[in-house]
Amino acid sequence: MAPQITILAIESSCDDTSAAVICDGFVLSNLIANQDVHKAYGGVVPELASRAHQANIVPVVDQALARAGKRADEVSAVAFTQGPGLLGSLLVGTSFAKGFALARNIPLIAVNHLQAHVMSHFAMEHGKENRIPQFPFLCLLVSGGHTQLIVIRDHLVMELIGNTIDDAAGEAFDKCAKVMGLPYPGGPVIDRLASVGNPDAFRFAKPRIQGLNFSFSGLKTSFLYFLRDRVAEDPGFIGKNLNDLAASLQRTIIEILIGKLVRASRETGIREIGIAGGVSANGGLRRAATREAEKRGWNLFLPEFRYTTDNAAMIGITGYYKYLRAEFTDHSVIPVARIDT
Ligand code: KG4
Ligand code: ZN
Repeated sequence: MAPQITILAIESSCDDTSAAVICDGFVLSNLIANQDVHKAYGGVVPELASRAHQANIVPVVDQALARAGKRADEVSAVAFTQGPGLLGSLLVGTSFAKGFALARNIPLIAVNHLQAHVMSHFAMEHGKENRIPQFPFLCLLVSGGHTQLIVIRDHLVMELIGNTIDDAAGEAFDKCAKVMGLPYPGGPVIDRLASVGNPDAFRFAKPRIQGLNFSFSGLKTSFLYFLRDRVAEDPGFIGKNLNDLAASLQRTIIEILIGKLVRASRETGIREIGIAGGVSANGGLRRAATREAEKRGWNLFLPEFRYTTDNAAMIGITGYYKYLRAEFTDHSVIPVARIDT
C-alpha cells in the first residue's frame, strides 16, 4: 500500500485561527478558534487579531492532530496561508508552519487564500457521498475582501474572468449593516433578518458595469443616503423597517451576483458552477443559485457551511494537490498581504 500523505494545514489570514489535518485528500479534522475580541470594535482590529492568533495557534494545532488521530511525526508536509490577508495575522501562521516544518524536516507549502476558498469544493470526507466538480468549473468567490469569477481548469490552474472594481460583496453587507447599527460581521445578521422581511419593500439601483466585473460601492452609498433621508423624516425608520431593509438590500446584492454568474456561464459555456467564500453561506444567495441551476441545467456546488468562511481544511486540500506536484516552498518565504490575481 502506498504511504499516506498527511497534510497539517494552518489558516490565520484574518480573525479565525484554524488548523486542519488532511489525509490523501480527505479532511480528518478542521478546528476553528473564533476571535470574539473584535465584536466590541465593529470590525477586525489587526493588532488584536495577531495577538489572539499567537494565543490560539498551539492549542488549535494540538486539537486538530488529536481529533485526526495523528501524531506530529506522521505529518508529511505543512501547508499555510501565505496571503492575502492581514500581515500580522499571516505572520503568526507562517512562522508556526516554518517552525513545525523545520523541526520535523518536512516540506513547507505556501497557499493562496483565494485559491483555497475555491478548492474547498474538492474537500472530501469519509462516510459521506463526495460530489466533486468536473473541469472546467466556474466559481463565484464572494468573501469579505473579494468578489471574483474564476474558471478552474485544473486543481491548481485558475483563470480570473471577473473582479470587483471597488468593494467586495461581503463588505457591502458589513458596511450597510453598520449603517443600520447592526453588529459586525453584518452579513449573517442581514441574512437572518432578511429571512422574515419583504425583499420588494425598497428598491436600490444596481450598478451598470460592463462585462463580468462587479461594483458595490455605489449601492453602499445610495443605501446610506436613502436611510439618511428617511431617518430625517422619521427617526424610528430603521427600527420599524429593519427586516424589510435587510431583505431588500440582500435581494439587490444577490441580483448583482447572480446576474454576472449567469452571464459568465453563458459566455464560457461552463455549467459546472460553484459559489465559495463567506458570503456563499447566505441563504438567499444559495436559494437564488439553486433556482438558476434548475432553470439552466447547471450542475451546482454549494459548499457545506463549515467550508464557506475561513477554515484550514481548504488550505490543506490545496496543499494536498500542491504536494502531489511537489510545489514546495523554502524557508525564505514571507507572508504577502495583497496578492493580485
Ligand atoms: O471568506 P470570509 O470568512 O473571510 C474573508 O476571506 O473575507 O468572509 C467573510 C465575509 C464577511 O463579510 C461576512 O459578513 C460574510 O462573509 N458572510 C455573510 C454570511 N456569512 C458570512 N454574508 C452574507 N450572508 C451570510 N450568511
Ligand atoms: Zn476568506
